[in-house]
Amino acid sequence: MWNEKVVIITGSSIGIGRSLAFEIGKKGAKIVLNARNEDRMNKTYEEFKTNGFELTACSGDVSKYKDCVKIIEHTISTYGKIDILINNAGISAEGTLEETKPDVFKQIMEVNFLGSVYMTRAALPYIKQTRGSILFVGSLAGIHGLGNYSAYCSSKMALTAVVESLRKEVHGTGTHIGIAYVGFTENDPEKTYFDNNGHVKALPVREKIKQVSVKKTVLQLMRMIEKRKYKSAFTPLGKLNAILNRISPYIVHNILLRVYRKNRN
Ligand SMILES: NC(=O)c1ccc[n+]([C@@H]2O[C@H](COP(=O)([O-])OP(=O)(O)OC[C@H]3O[C@@H](n4cnc5c(N)ncnc54)[C@H](OP(=O)(O)O)[C@@H]3O)[C@@H](O)[C@H]2O)c1
Repeated sequence: MWNEKVVIITGSSIGIGRSLAFEIGKKGAKIVLNARNEDRMNKTYEEFKTNGFELTACSGDVSKYKDCVKIIEHTISTYGKIDILINNAGISAEGTLEETKPDVFKQIMEVNFLGSVYMTRAALPYIKQTRGSILFVGSLAGIHGLGNYSAYCSSKMALTAVVESLRKEVHGTGTHIGIAYVGFTENDPEKTYFDNNGHVKALPVREKIKQVSVKKTVLQLMRMIEKRKYKSAFTPLGKLNAILNRISPYIVHNILLRVYRKNRN
């Protein structure tokens, strides 16, 4: 299914995006790498090129619409079509609403939400032509708001709304739209996050939280595209969260309140 497919993966210099590019590239797809930091992106490009992958790279900030258009134009001029867009680029942020500087909310929404919307808008005419797929990389944090993560949760929850609207708008065109509620995944050592002052910091290893391997998350994301799945919550905790939240958001609220209080003390 992947052979000769043209796949754009935003935020693919490190982490889940990089690993997605690796696994999909191994299957013979033509990969378009993207990230803001050109040096880091080019390092990944060179490494994959040495592995014999067919790929290209286009730097750009997905929170800027003109950069999204540039990425799409680069893809079309290089490969002539787009089969799959994976909206993976994202950043995390910590801090209560009260402590968090207003600009952090703006930046998180611009990258995690608008970045996915802008890329989708620019790519959609081409993906309709190939009857391809658009996958949004959401998070368990987008199912029910977590204390201390309101900016991040809002940006990921908003993706559900856009996916639900879009699915109706493309109905009958053969285009697949999906959203993955990704669970805690082992972080790339280079992963960063915004603190409540808007400072970019290295994310400490999350020792207390059970995490799945990047490869496991990546294979689940690929399976969603292969099976053209609409919504999927990853990890047992994520599946439980999604089911329980449908039955009783009140119970989920109480569980997450306890988690929040424990972590704040
Ligand atoms: N790791 C987890 O446990 C987890 C759990 C649930 C959901 N997710 C979601 O999975 C996705 C990937 O997470 P990750 O842990 O792999 O993140 P990561 O290791 O921090 O990698 C993020 C990637 O996105 C790029 N990026 C960031 N902002 C960008 C922008 N404005 N435009 C273009 N590229 C940008 C980064 O490169 P530059 O900085 O050079 O741009 C990097 O390549 C995110 O959407 C995240 O919210 C992760």
